[in-house]
Amino acid sequence: MLFSLAAIWYLTLRNGLLCQASSSASNDLAKDFPLPEIQRFWGSYTPYFSAQPYTPPPSNCRISQVNIIQRHGARFPTSGATTRIKVAIKKLQSATHYTDLPLAFLVNYTYSLGKDNLVPFGALQSTEAGEITFKRYQQLISQDNLPFVRSSSGQRVVDSATNWTAGFSFASGHVYNPTLSVILSEDLNDTLDDAMCPNAGSSDLQTDAWNAIYGAPIAERLNAQAPGANLVAADISNLIPLCAFESIAQNATSPFCALFTPAEFAQFEYFADLDKYYGTGYGQALGPVQGVGYINELLARLTGKPVSDNTQTNRTLDASPVTFPLDRTLYADFSHDNQMVAIYAALGLFNQSTPLDPTMPDPKRTWITSRLTPFSGRMVTERLSCRKKGSGGHLVKSGEYVRILVNDALQPLTFCAADKHGLCTLSNFVRSQGYAINNGEGDFEKCFA
Ligand SMILES: *[C@@H]1O[C@H](CO)[C@@H](O)[C@H](O)[C@H]1NC(C)=O
Ligand SMILES: *[C@@H]1O[C@H](CO)[C@@H](O)[C@H](O)[C@H]1NC(C)=O
Ligand SMILES: *[C@@H]1O[C@H](CO)[C@@H](O)[C@H](O)[C@H]1NC(C)=O
Ligand SMILES: *[C@@H]1O[C@H](CO)[C@@H](O)[C@H](O)[C@H]1NC(C)=O
Ligand SMILES: *[C@@H]1O[C@H](CO)[C@@H](O)[C@H](O)[C@H]1NC(C)=O
Ligand SMILES: *[C@@H]1O[C@H](CO)[C@@H](O)[C@H](O)[C@H]1NC(C)=O
Repeated sequence: MLFSLAAIWYLTLRNGLLCQASSSASNDLAKDFPLPEIQRFWGSYTPYFSAQPYTPPPSNCRISQVNIIQRHGARFPTSGATTRIKVAIKKLQSATHYTDLPLAFLVNYTYSLGKDNLVPFGALQSTEAGEITFKRYQQLISQDNLPFVRSSSGQRVVDSATNWTAGFSFASGHVYNPTLSVILSEDLNDTLDDAMCPNAGSSDLQTDAWNAIYGAPIAERLNAQAPGANLVAADISNLIPLCAFESIAQNATSPFCALFTPAEFAQFEYFADLDKYYGTGYGQALGPVQGVGYINELLARLTGKPVSDNTQTNRTLDASPVTFPLDRTLYADFSHDNQMVAIYAALGLFNQSTPLDPTMPDPKRTWITSRLTPFSGRMVTERLSCRKKGSGGHLVKSGEYVRILVNDALQPLTFCAADKHGLCTLSNFVRSQGYAINNGEGDFEKCFA
C-alpha cells in the first residue's frame, strides 16, 4: 500500500493536469488530491503542495501588485549528491547476499538518473504554477502590463521560468505571452542565488550530528540485512532521498522507498530542516544577508522607488527601466531553495523561539523544509489597497498594505504588526526591514573580510 502511493499521486497530478489542459478548469490541482504522508517528509525533494488553501484578501481590499519568487521544479540529484548516492549504492551492492526481500532488487539494479536538470514532472510543475498564477491574478494583466520575469542562470531555473511563462500563456488562451526578460549570471551579482558570500559557513556540523543519531540504527539494520555492505550513518541521508528522486523522475515507485519506515522518512525531513536552517537560514551567521539584495528589490517594487542596495544586486541592471521596471503589477523571479531560505530568514519569516537542536527535533517547530522550499515552492508578496473606516466612523480611508503567502500559507507577519488577515501597512512592512535597508548591518562585508 504505502509504496504505491507515490506512483498514484504522480498519475493523479499528470492526469489532472492533462484534464485541466483540455477543460481549462480553474482550480489549484496540487491542493485537490490527498498527498500521501511519506512525500511530506522528503524535505527539499517534496513536490510542491499548497501548505494551506489560498485565502483571497478581505473584500475591502484590492490586490494592486504581486511579487513571486519561486524555486525551480523537481530535478535530478545535483552532481555532488550523485557522487554520494553512488558511493552508498556501491556499498549496498557489495554485500555478500541479502537476507531481506525488499533488498533483493539490488542484485540487478543500475543507478540511471541524470544530474542537475529538471525532470519532466519538474517542467510540468512550473507550467502548472504559471497557469495558477494567471487564473488567480488575471485582473492585474493587460497587453501593456505583462508579468516581468527574471531567472537565475542555472539551466533548471531558466527552464522553470520559461515553462512558467508557457503555462501562463496557455491559461490565457495565448492572449498574454510573457517572456523571460532577465537572466542573472550565477557567477556575477545575482539576487536569485546564494553564491556571493564566500565566508558563509555550512550546515555540516549540525547535519553530521543528526546523521549520527538517526542514521546509525538504520545503517545497522541494513548492514545486518546486507552483510558486508558496511554502510555508515551518513550514507542513510543519501539513500532515503533515492525514494523521492527515482519515484519523481521515473513515474514509478522506487524500490528504495520500501527500505525505510514512515518514521525514518520523518527523521530525514529533520535532516533537511537542519540543513536549511544552518545552511542559509537563521542558524547561519552569514545566511540571511544573502537574502538582502532581493528584499531591497522587493521594497523598490512595493514602493515604486529605485532600488537602494549595496549587496548582491547588479546596480547596472536595477537602474534601468528595461531590466528593472517599476511600473508592472506582476513580477516573477525564479531561484533556488538555499537563496529563498536566506530571504525568508532576512525577512523574519518562520522564526523560531529557540534555534533548532541538532540532536532533537522539536515537534512544534514551524521550520519544516518541505513546507518552506519544496520543488517549485514559492513566496508571494501581495500589495493591496484597502479601504478602512476612518476615526469618524463613516470616513473611508484608503491605504496600502502587504501580505505574504508561502506555498499559499498566509504568513502571520508579527514583525510588522499584521492584523488578523495577515495585513501589515506598507509603511510598517518597510520599517520592519531594517536589516535589508541597512545592507545587512555589516554582515555583507563579513562575507569577504
Ligand atoms: C536478475 O537478473 C537475472 C537475469 O535477467 C534474473 O534471472 C534474476 O531473476 C534477476 N534477479 C532478481 C532478484 O531480480
Ligand atoms: C520546459 O523545461 C524543459 C526541461 O525540463 C525544456 O526542455 C523545455 O524546453 C521547457 N519548455 C518551455 C516551454 O520552456
Ligand atoms: C551586470 O549585468 C550586466 C548585464 O547583464 C552584465 O554585463 C554585467 O557583467 C553584470 N555585472 C555584475 C557584476 O554582475
Ligand atoms: C506514467 O506511467 C503510467 C503507467 O504506469 C503511464 O500510463 C503514463 O503515461 C506515465 N507518464 C509519463 C509522463 O511517462
Ligand atoms: C556587484 O556587487 C558588488 C558587491 O556589492 C559591488 O561592489 C559591485 O559594484 C556590483 N556590480 C554591479 C555591476 O552592480
Ligand atoms: C527571530 O527571533 C529571535 C528570537 O526571538 C529574535 O531575536 C530575532 O530578532 C528574530 N529575527 C528576525 C529577523 O525577526
